[in-house]
Amino acid sequence: MAALASCSSGNQPQAKHPSYVTSGQFTTAHPSVEAAARDYFDDYPTHVEQPIAFTHMLHLKNGMQCTDCHKGVADGPDASIPNVQLCMTCHQVIATDKPEIKKMAAYQKRGEQIPWRRVFWFYQSAHVRFRHGPHIRAGVDCATCHGDMKQVTVAVRKAGLDMKFCVDCHRARKVVTDCTACHF
Ligand code: HEC
Ligand code: HEC
Ligand code: HEC
Ligand code: HEC
Ligand code: HEC
Repeated sequence: MAALASCSSGNQPQAKHPSYVTSGQFTTAHPSVEAAARDYFDDYPTHVEQPIAFTHMLHLKNGMQCTDCHKGVADGPDASIPNVQLCMTCHQVIATDKPEIKKMAAYQKRGEQIPWRRVFWFYQSAHVRFRHGPHIRAGVDCATCHGDMKQVTVAVRKAGLDMKFCVDCHRARKVVTDCTACHF
């Protein structure tokens, strides 16, 4: 079983399957018939409601890099999501009058992390293992798998990261296609 949470570079630990998390407690059982059916049909939610109306577009336009926020992406298994302290290093002074920034400041004041919900993940039953590091080091662009983040506010899962998608590229680039490379 994969680690259910990880923590790197001081970024916040992330629940792997947040749409299943109802009580902060992870369970492998399906909480509802709908979730079980979605799993069976390999159907993933595309738009996810986030607690803060974050905008990739605006931050990237202002010159920030993916790795400023997703610090683990080149080295660790997980890209990781920044903690509220990192956001507030700028938002202590930037756009402080905006409602979304006020909400964010309130999380920090209460000593809480922003409860971001995961967008990209696999059902536990698919037993898929994925690590960013080797892909980033091999020069695979983020956009290949996540789409052009300069065009979006919060992340959106447009393309399904299904097995064919992974294996087609692995074949083309002569990378491992053994079942056990990707499945456990
Ligand atoms: C080859 C496809 C691929 C590429 C390239 C890729 N990702 Fe991912 N990314 C994924 C998959 C698959 C997941 C879900 C992994 C899981 O749940 O185990 C994911 C998850 C994430 C997450 C969720 C949180 C986490 O800690 O993993 C973030 C953030 C992320 N990717 C950012 C990036 C950034 C930034 C880049 C480029 C520097 C990038 N990704 C490149 C496939 C990719
Ligand atoms: C390096 C500085 C910097 C960091 C770090 C940063 N931001 Fe920003 N953020 C900006 C700038 C600059 C703007 C654009 C402000 C403007 O145009 O008024 C902005 C705008 C925003 C807005 C839109 C505000 C509005 O309603 O107009 C939100 C929401 C936001 N940031 C959230 C975040 C979150 C969440 C994080 C942490 C994941 C974060 N920011 C990290 C600099 C930063
Ligand atoms: C200012 C900080 C910041 C920057 C810069 C940034 N991101 Fe993000 N990213 C976030 C935050 C906060 C979230 C959680 C909200 C969301 O899902 O959009 C996130 C979410 C994501 C996710 C979805 C993670 C999941 O839940 O599965 C992906 C994929 C992603 N970012 C990719 C990128 C890529 C690629 C870049 C560079 C082109 C980038 N990000 C730049 C802060 C940032
Ligand atoms: C656009 C091309 C591309 C796509 C799409 C892609 N990969 Fe890869 N993958 C690579 C390359 C290139 C490497 C080899 C890196 C190296 O040689 O170290 C790799 C390596 C791997 C490895 C072995 C690295 C390791 O040691 O862990 C696994 C496992 C893996 N990918 C899983 C996946 C999964 C799962 C997906 C789909 C979600 C996926 N890949 C999608 C190009 C891709
Ligand atoms: C390059 C990575 C990769 C390789 C190699 C790979 N798979 Fe997959 N496989 C995936 C991904 C990603 C999924 C989709 C998981 C999802 O969308 O939930 C998947 C899905 C599956 C599923 C469906 C699981 C479900 O969700 O019900 C089966 C069965 C499966 N793979 C078997 C195999 C077998 C057998 C092999 C070897 C011949 C293999 N896979 C090789 C990445 C890979």
